[in-house]
Amino acid sequence: MYALRGSILALHIFGIVYWIGGLLMIASLLARVPDEVGLPKERFLGVARRLFETTSNVGAAITIALGLVLILTNPPVLRQGWFHLKLLLVAILLFYHVRFYRRIIFLEDHPSESTRREYSVIHGLVSLLLIAILMLAVMKPF
Ligand code: HEM
Repeated sequence: MYALRGSILALHIFGIVYWIGGLLMIASLLARVPDEVGLPKERFLGVARRLFETTSNVGAAITIALGLVLILTNPPVLRQGWFHLKLLLVAILLFYHVRFYRRIIFLEDHPSESTRREYSVIHGLVSLLLIAILMLAVMKPF
């Protein structure tokens, strides 16, 4: 049981790396879009959407599915304050994930409407949420 739970936890963390790594990589890639003109801009956005679908969406699905399995292996975690806050931060992250994905789909038809600043904001926000969630999950402060 201990080894099985350890493996699930390792795969939960693998999903996090895929999810957040994808989001940060795509935000960095798209920060270059405003500098490009013509075809490269559309190509950047197409590549970004495909990357989003093959990394961030898959990573988020793995993280959430295995998070639910981890709850089943330790139901009392649902009564702990740090875990409630962690789930709230994950919900905020998920909200920005969906918004970012929809924004990329919108920009594929309107490529000139993006700014470097909006991607920097997304990059910063995702990084801050990741740090806060990791601190809560590892330190379990309350
Ligand atoms: C970006 C999002 C997430 C991050 C960064 C994250 C991070 C982590 C980390 C680092 C651990 C290992 C903690 C330890 O044992 O020291 C962990 C455990 C766990 N995670 Fe996540 N997680 C995320 C999303 C989720 C979601 C969405 C769920 C539930 C649906 C979830 C449920 C759990 C559970 C139940 C554990 C085991 C806690 C315990 O029993 O002590 N996580 N998470």
